[in-house]
Amino acid sequence: MNSLDGKVAFISGAARGIGATTARLMVEAGARVAIGDVLDERGRQTVQGIAGESETVIYQHLDVTREEDWSSAIAATVARFGGLDILVNNAGLFLGKGIEEASLDEWHRLCAVNLTGVFLGTKLALPALRERARQSPHGSAIVNLASVAGLVGSQLDPLYSMTKGGVTLFTKSTALEFARKGYRVRVNSIHPGLIQTDMGEQTFISRARNLGSNDVEAVRHQAMSRHPIGRLGVPEDIAKGIVFLASDDAGFMTGAGLVIDGGSTAQ
Ligand code: NAI
Repeated sequence: MNSLDGKVAFISGAARGIGATTARLMVEAGARVAIGDVLDERGRQTVQGIAGESETVIYQHLDVTREEDWSSAIAATVARFGGLDILVNNAGLFLGKGIEEASLDEWHRLCAVNLTGVFLGTKLALPALRERARQSPHGSAIVNLASVAGLVGSQLDPLYSMTKGGVTLFTKSTALEFARKGYRVRVNSIHPGLIQTDMGEQTFISRARNLGSNDVEAVRHQAMSRHPIGRLGVPEDIAKGIVFLASDDAGFMTGAGLVIDGGSTAQ
């Protein structure tokens, strides 16, 4: 018996990075998975790489900031797989600018993806999640990708931090709201430290730029030294946590935050 046998999951922003690895581990754990992203070509390659000829993974075009995209992506997932047990709100943007450098347009874009995207995903997936929760012993599950930047202050990226702090408390609030209403939909968040993905690489480049340097390698080493475990994270470190929170193994968890950060916020 695998931990996600019989489950259906939708993962936003899963063409690459943490989302793509989560899709692979979920399929290995027995789930059927729909991935949504704006990177259509990359998304289809990811599906092909995970599923080959099998029909365990599908790709849906999804801009998380558009309500109509969410409606059609969730409807297509339910039509194909017969329901929805798990939503992973994973799509996210990083900015890497201080208050004095960031523009209002950049802030609006960051909010649209990191906050509006999580709100819309939760709202539009909820009816399907509630429906499936009636038949499942531990109900359905939502996992939101926050960050350590949603737990402690971030001197280099206050605006990203503001959005991820919002995701942290939205998670707790929706967990409470759904429990009060008897929906049987658990909601938990994940708080990664620095993970080696395209976004991880972007953080090194912007940190170097903020320090007035081109030495990305030096910044990478500095970042590593802030993780007591002695290395940076890889997507599997986070994907394993997401699979756990999405599974019935986490059936007594809701409104919680799982910190997977190599000890960086323990200091
Ligand atoms: P990534 O940049 O490699 O992947 C993010 C994915 O989101 C991409 O496929 C991108 O196309 C997609 N995306 C962006 N805007 C979108 C939109 N409007 N609609 C649909 N998809 C969209 O990033 P990574 O590292 O895989 O991050 C995944 C999540 O984990 C994000 O929410 C991020 O904030 C969070 N995170 C990442 C950390 C890291 O160090 N990499 C650390 C802490 C949190």
